[in-house]
Amino acid sequence: MNHKEIIQSIQKEMKEFFTQEHTGHDWYHIERVWKNARKIAANYPEANQLHIELAALLHDRYDHKIVDNVEKAKLEVRDLLGQHGLSKELIEKILYSIDAVGFRNGKNPLQPISIEDKIVQDADRLDAIGAIAIARTFVYSGAHQRPIYTGESQEILEKAEQLEDTAIGHFYEKLLTLSDTLHTPEAREIAKDRHKFMREYLNQFFAEWEGLK
Ligand code: ADP
Ligand code: NI
Repeated sequence: MNHKEIIQSIQKEMKEFFTQEHTGHDWYHIERVWKNARKIAANYPEANQLHIELAALLHDRYDHKIVDNVEKAKLEVRDLLGQHGLSKELIEKILYSIDAVGFRNGKNPLQPISIEDKIVQDADRLDAIGAIAIARTFVYSGAHQRPIYTGESQEILEKAEQLEDTAIGHFYEKLLTLSDTLHTPEAREIAKDRHKFMREYLNQFFAEWEGLK
């Protein structure tokens, strides 16, 4: 199989796998991350493009939020990549990118090291910043029966310590912190407007909450 055939085959597999998932980690999230990754990667011809595209397409395939048995699902991904004729070395590199991509409340022990790891992580994080990220956050919160907001002061929210589990709280726990963690200048540039938009959204939200607008 050549590069294009491998990508097409894995893309098809992932589209089928994620048909039942609607909590913000659905196929369309995967597709956006894949597209973001390709866009950033276009500026890094020295990077392994196949590695980047496959890690982006597979990055949520064995996430604990999606599957019950992470180890089993990871083995399935190893097998899948093996069936597509990839070398053991490349497979392990792709799996490392996937293991390092997650935010995990800022507590992921693995850090992106290679340029491929960094591009995939940036691409995933971009989808957690901006207008679509706002929609994902409310869908996720709703799916977990959490409130929109319970009136915590903005001071407490900005400190982001031991916040209540609300959709608005998640902006402060995570979404607003992501821009500073991006690795590539290309992703940082895209994040700028998205970050600003989330701030504007929150300003409007609190103004309405307080009956000012
Ligand atoms: P990662 O895979 O990078 O560790 P997650 O999968 O936890 O990140 O989060 C992906 C997206 O899902 C977040 O950006 C957010 O939109 C939504 N999400 C995750 N956790 C929460 C939460 N506790 N409340 C609201 N939304 C959440
Ligand atoms: Ni993701």
